[in-house]
Amino acid sequence: MPRIRLWLATAALAISGCGGPFPQSTLHPRSDFARGTDALFTDIFWWAAAVFVVVELMLLVAIVRFRHREGRAAPRPTHGHTLMEIGWTLAPAVILVFVAVPTVRTIFATAGEAPADALKVDVIGHQWWWEFRYPELALVTANELHVPLGRVVQLSITSADVIHSFWAPPLGGKRDAIPGHMTRIAFRPDSVGDYSGQCAEFCGASHANMRLRVIVDSDSGFGRWATVQLAGPAAPAPGTLAERGRAVFARSACIGCHTIQGVSPGVIGPNLTHVGSRTTIASGLFPNDSAHLARWIADAPSLKPGSLMTRMQPPLTDADIAALGAYLQSLK
Ligand code: CUA
Repeated sequence: MPRIRLWLATAALAISGCGGPFPQSTLHPRSDFARGTDALFTDIFWWAAAVFVVVELMLLVAIVRFRHREGRAAPRPTHGHTLMEIGWTLAPAVILVFVAVPTVRTIFATAGEAPADALKVDVIGHQWWWEFRYPELALVTANELHVPLGRVVQLSITSADVIHSFWAPPLGGKRDAIPGHMTRIAFRPDSVGDYSGQCAEFCGASHANMRLRVIVDSDSGFGRWATVQLAGPAAPAPGTLAERGRAVFARSACIGCHTIQGVSPGVIGPNLTHVGSRTTIASGLFPNDSAHLARWIADAPSLKPGSLMTRMQPPLTDADIAALGAYLQSLK
């Protein structure tokens, strides 16, 4: 009885892994690139499954038919059987051709070449966050990449410090972000959605905390998002907590690292001009709410080891932190 319970519990755990919505799975492709690699994976999987079945069947036949029995002579080995030798040389060669041709085709199809009208985005990896620049739109954001549905997006990827790797599994494969070097990836998203990604190259203490999101908007939704991002941040209403927060921001070390359009020009940390419009903070680590913002402002390295955003000296008061949080959240 306990054994059945253990089996049932294991099966339940395994089956629970099949539940949606798969925001970070290569097996649920949401772009032409990802569908190409997924089809190739499925194709090679079935070839491998067929080889497995044939080899295991032959092994089982050999075990049953030629096993040692009392009084039976040892089976006679076969030498120099021309037909068999041609067969087991030719069969793997043919299978490899069926694997190689679609593989090479997919490698060329996903090489990163994009049509001239593709939306171009420069991706810059930092320890430990992602910077996204849209040169055609003169727009800069961080950690949450918005792209329009159905249009090819070409990412030109590099790094400001060490080697990172950009990876948004439902949309495309990994591309290393290498300082002083440019890598490219292009894909056409085919489903509106919010997809997760992750730095895929060990890059220091908070490598595992270097997440990202790709938000595929409808065409009009992307247009609306870009219009809002291009506008300067709305000034907080007089007398509000957010207005106090803006004063705290302007007199604190924040301005040395962060840009807020019209307020501060820092370029070391993420651009915060519209940080309130993002769903997460700290490179996709936490929801963008006042509780997490307050903890992040007070002591970022305790939430993200090695974070370049050090503890503020002298420390901000709780009231200042609350005001700062309200200001940042008002930057929609
Ligand atoms: Cu960046 Cu790992």
